[in-house]
Amino acid sequence: MTFLKEEVEHFVHPPIGGTYTVATQTHTFDIEAVRGDFPLIMREALRKPPLSYLDNAASTQKPQTVIDALSNFYSQDYANIHRGVHFLSQRATDLYDKARETVRRFLNARESAECIFLRGATEGVNLVANCYAKPLLCRPGANIVITTMEHHADIVPWQLAMEDTGAQLRVVPIDGRGVLDEEAFEKLVDENTVIVGLSYVSNVLGTVNPAERLIAAAHAKGVPVLLDAAQAAPHVALDVQQLGCDLLVISGHKIYGPTGIGILYGRREILEKMPPWQGGGDMILHVSFAGTTYKGIPDRFEAGTPHIAGAMGIAAAMNYIERIGIGAIAAHEHELLEYANAAVTDIAQLRVIGTAPGKAGVLSFVIDGVHPHDIGTFLDADGVAIRAGHHCAEPLMKHLGLPGTARASFGMYNTFEEIDRFAASIRKIVKFFL
Ligand code: ALA
Repeated sequence: MTFLKEEVEHFVHPPIGGTYTVATQTHTFDIEAVRGDFPLIMREALRKPPLSYLDNAASTQKPQTVIDALSNFYSQDYANIHRGVHFLSQRATDLYDKARETVRRFLNARESAECIFLRGATEGVNLVANCYAKPLLCRPGANIVITTMEHHADIVPWQLAMEDTGAQLRVVPIDGRGVLDEEAFEKLVDENTVIVGLSYVSNVLGTVNPAERLIAAAHAKGVPVLLDAAQAAPHVALDVQQLGCDLLVISGHKIYGPTGIGILYGRREILEKMPPWQGGGDMILHVSFAGTTYKGIPDRFEAGTPHIAGAMGIAAAMNYIERIGIGAIAAHEHELLEYANAAVTDIAQLRVIGTAPGKAGVLSFVIDGVHPHDIGTFLDADGVAIRAGHHCAEPLMKHLGLPGTARASFGMYNTFEEIDRFAASIRKIVKFFL
């Protein structure tokens, strides 16, 4: 399918890439070099129509350095860890430990033992819900505070933990722009609140919550906070010490790393209070039929052979983000978002969902009279990949009174041309349906 020339040239491109000054640092962002690092992006750009991959909130593509980290580990360094006296096992163990140290640096954790390798952000919240909230916190009269914009992964694990305990869920409202009601937050967190589950960046609305301020407000009442940073990690510098968060989760696949690997960060004092979750090899000190003693953190929460190659992959992804510069990535995505907003602003039937100031690179929208799935299918025919549906946030959709939204989400390799194709395709949809 081809686009009408005037549709594609509707906008004059501002220069892309170049130099971004972020706080005290200046980053040079070379979009062509970045795109060249992603084999799938380069290959699909040659397709007719070329692929505009605008589904980065669902998952990001992988740079060659991450693919190499996985491949090199399997082809050159593979063995099980913590078990062998032989050279290869010891080298694999060293590499795994080094990967954990990279995670520590990426999050600015105090020590690498506070960074647990798990399957992803979802498993991290489930671990905390199962080993901290359920056995140690939930009781009749207790409450857990979350927000209207939470992903299912930051709702359902708490519900499971609260079952039959008499604890209740409290939900902080948002306004029409998707901004969290901070006054309500302050009121809802009270002396009976046992933990707060807070998303840093909404995967639907793009809202960036004032995490540091909200965490400080919760701490003023003695309440710990788990920060769901799955959607924040590709866009925002994470510093767990500055944020003051007690617990934080991220997923590898949303930060240009592999699937099946993620991190639970927890303050040592909290992690050490938590009983083990899964039992098995590598998490024990001694086992007898009469009883078992457990290792300390982080091993206590990593039973069985972990995703060793995944640890190499997530560390490579973190190194890559650091090399490009999270400030430059955020600035680039901000330009893409502004450009996309401008590109669709005159389409009367299109309504952007989520207009919080300073939001991250997520453009959720609806077109009156067209189902989000139809939008997604029509865009796909033009080579534009977006996500349509409830985005694992059904309660938010209910609050918005929508069955779902269409969502374009931007990554470091996206360009204005890709957004032109997106906007041109949207105009065709509007013409076709309305
Ligand atoms: N949570 C992911 C999304 O937002 C899968 O699409």
